[in-house]
Amino acid sequence: MARVYEAIPIAEGFYWVGAVDWGLRDFHGYATHRGTTYNSYLMTTPSGRNVVFDGVKEPFVDVMLSRIASVVDPASVDTVVSNHAEMDHSGGLPRLCAALSPSRILASQAGVKNLSMQLEGFSGVTAVGDGEVVDLGGEQAVFMETRMLHWPDSMFSYLPSRRILVSQDAFGMHLASAELFAHRVDRALLREEAGRYYANILMPYSRLVTALLSKVASAGLTLDVIAPDHGPVWVEGREPGPSFITGLYAEWAAQKPTRKAVVSFDTMWKSTETMALAIAEGLEAGGATSVVLPLHGSHRSDVAYELLEAGALLLGTPTINNNLFPTVADLVAYLRGLRRQNLVGAAFGSHGWSGEGVRQLSAAMAEMKIDLLHPGLSVQFRPDGSALSACRELGAATAARLAAGEA
Ligand SMILES: Cc1cc2nc3c(=O)[nH]c(=O)nc-3n(C[C@H](O)[C@H](O)[C@H](O)COP(=O)(O)O)c2cc1C
Ligand SMILES: [Fe+2]
Ligand SMILES: [Fe+2]
Repeated sequence: MARVYEAIPIAEGFYWVGAVDWGLRDFHGYATHRGTTYNSYLMTTPSGRNVVFDGVKEPFVDVMLSRIASVVDPASVDTVVSNHAEMDHSGGLPRLCAALSPSRILASQAGVKNLSMQLEGFSGVTAVGDGEVVDLGGEQAVFMETRMLHWPDSMFSYLPSRRILVSQDAFGMHLASAELFAHRVDRALLREEAGRYYANILMPYSRLVTALLSKVASAGLTLDVIAPDHGPVWVEGREPGPSFITGLYAEWAAQKPTRKAVVSFDTMWKSTETMALAIAEGLEAGGATSVVLPLHGSHRSDVAYELLEAGALLLGTPTINNNLFPTVADLVAYLRGLRRQNLVGAAFGSHGWSGEGVRQLSAAMAEMKIDLLHPGLSVQFRPDGSALSACRELGAATAARLAAGEA
């Protein structure tokens, strides 16, 4: 194979051998506006028995093999570690392992089970336990289970002699970039894309994130490099480095309410939209900040991202055939799964005769444990002056509640 693709050195004997997916715009229902990367890592060892951490999405296996071949003979790869059995990392393993013929493939116990159910004709994976120390060609690795961050099989690999943490999806982001290192990427962009990733992938497991951060701190692990499976690599001594992303995770995992309100809705004839704009005016007048996301122009995952650092969610829907508007139902199903805690909010919307939309939306929001500030602000057809005043008042009352919560 022609060696078109080269490995990128990260530390002595540790290389990035992944792939950049510039054109990806949808990752299982999450809008990836800036593409992504599938990161894999090659560790060379003094014994010459080399190690690969994580695979790439199946169509990129040749790219990965080419990068490995730019450093070592692929046949020298003795161990493949699978930190996470989701298809963007594991889907390429059968073809990768067929090409490399490693003597062993390591995964967590749940990883072994999941791989056997996912990948036809793929076997021979050995389980490693939580905290298990394994000799990898003369280099030690410690495996740490990170169950439900974000799958049951997820684990970290820590290399004590190099102080490198291979963290699979954690601390990663969907960002295609020619720059591998976080300290060469714009800080605001890193914060935004890491936030999008956290909100859409890790938010439901925030309690586990908090527990994991204290486990890593109490284990006294020094992190010279955090090498995630998507996006840039974090290097200690450079800014932003590992503490930038672990600090953001600590903040996001706490899910503290802020004085920002997210107003999202859809509309057929603009009545619900008019209500949304009046609510946003009331929010601003009351000293809150607001983000208005009409669902005919915003993706569900953009709403999830805006909610990451918010305190209130106001959702609007017209009634259509005795139901919620479909895009609003889609958003509710998505946000219910992401389980953002500590929100106040309300439902609003316009209807013509029966008005089930707002009632169903209020019920769904109560089920999501959103503290409802209004039983459901519903108007028939076009909102008149007094209906719009009620909308402004709802915005102002929400702002007052956010201010009180912050005090
Ligand atoms: C296809 C269709 C179905 C509708 N079904 C209902 C309904 O079942 N119950 C109801 O109260 N209103 C229903 N409406 C009326 C709308 O809810 C009403 O026009 C409302 O003011 C639209 O709000 P919007 O301007 O925000 O789209 C329906 C309207 C359309 C176009
Ligand atoms: Fe994943
Ligand atoms: Fe992933």
